Amino acid sequence: MQLYRETHAERIAKSDQNGMISSVLSVSAPLDVERIRADFPILQRKVNGRRLIYLDNAATTQKPRQVIDALVDFYTTTNANVHRGVHTLSVESTDAYEAARERIGRFIGADRPEEIVFVRNTTEALNLVAVSWGRANLQPGDEILATTLEHHSNLVPWQRVAQETGARIRLIRLTLDGTVDLDDYRRLLSPRTRVVAVAHASNVLGTISDLGTISEMAHKVGAIVVADGAQSVPNVPTDVRTLGPDFLAFSGHKMLGPTGIGGLWGRLELLEEMPPFLGGGGMIREVFEDRATWAPLPEKFDAGTPNIADAIALGVAIDYLDDLGMSNVRAHEVEVAGYALERLASIPDVTVYGPSDPRVRTGVVSFNLEGVHPHDAGTVLDEAGIAVRAGHHCCQPLHRVLDVAATLRASFYVYNSADEVDALVDALATARRLYQRKTA
Ligand code: ALA
Repeated sequence: MQLYRETHAERIAKSDQNGMISSVLSVSAPLDVERIRADFPILQRKVNGRRLIYLDNAATTQKPRQVIDALVDFYTTTNANVHRGVHTLSVESTDAYEAARERIGRFIGADRPEEIVFVRNTTEALNLVAVSWGRANLQPGDEILATTLEHHSNLVPWQRVAQETGARIRLIRLTLDGTVDLDDYRRLLSPRTRVVAVAHASNVLGTISDLGTISEMAHKVGAIVVADGAQSVPNVPTDVRTLGPDFLAFSGHKMLGPTGIGGLWGRLELLEEMPPFLGGGGMIREVFEDRATWAPLPEKFDAGTPNIADAIALGVAIDYLDDLGMSNVRAHEVEVAGYALERLASIPDVTVYGPSDPRVRTGVVSFNLEGVHPHDAGTVLDEAGIAVRAGHHCCQPLHRVLDVAATLRASFYVYNSADEVDALVDALATARRLYQRKTA
């Protein structure tokens, strides 16, 4: 049996049956891609003499002029430390930094800005929860459930805290179409379950987890849900109150913001009872010779000088996405990824991983070209100016289940278009010809 994959012939048969793929192409264009592209200076550059076609958005997105300008403006006009001074620049800097926190909170449906902790990235957010909540709450015999599609960032921190506390990790299987198997999840859930670690969207298969049901089931046994939103918050309209996890982690750089800034949303009551992650300046209330007490939220998790400029620029990136409208961002992703799924299916020897319905996945499309190593194919694509990722995408357990060491991954965002998908398909045809000739 083939898991999470369809060959060319299977896919064609399926699309003939339900007409789903061709119906995707009839969706009217939700975004003005040409206008959006004009905001991204990097999209003007050439790579290997060819126009850059950037299809590595799941790794990091490009930045619009508005975000780049926000960074330059901050350092040109406002730069000062936050929460530490009475002078004008410090007050302005603090106001802009806290306004960004509020902005980010609103974007994901947080009730209060104090529920947003600034972190470097999703990985740091998940480590924060594993270390701070995990060390304080886990004990021998407890179980942490994680899914087979987790990025290493929502698995390795739990492995480490499990080793320290005597808790045990168990992996939830996936269904044949690459979503979390809710029957297996039900089978594994028990009063011993304390944590459910789940990617809201897979960075390999693109599949979107049913976070609402997963959270509801976890809460019935008293477990918390720690969701990795790195691949969902940039693409799918997100409301933490409706989705129901206890923590949601995300990265600014995957949603048009700068690198080095991200967010952890947590339920206020959990964040309040958790010990700080890092100790130092800014996170204390009082310090004595041998002990200290903690500042209230959100400062408790803001040790040291934070990444002020990038937090403010992330707020600007969110304004940009809001102007586009997240439902349009999502519709565009479904349209472009749907077209890519259809075009890839037309190349003999291509195996696409994950479901063929673009409506149940994000704009991440992983695949392999038979007889061509993903790194070799990636190099041929680069010669054509096309950026994709090749490798295990920090998901070795999932790749073991897929029974491949690596995949190629094209991931689409707001500035990508159907003609870029065509260029990808043409370059793959070149890779196929080159390597098949070599091996013949
Ligand atoms: N987590 C990022 C990816 O999947 C880096 O590519």
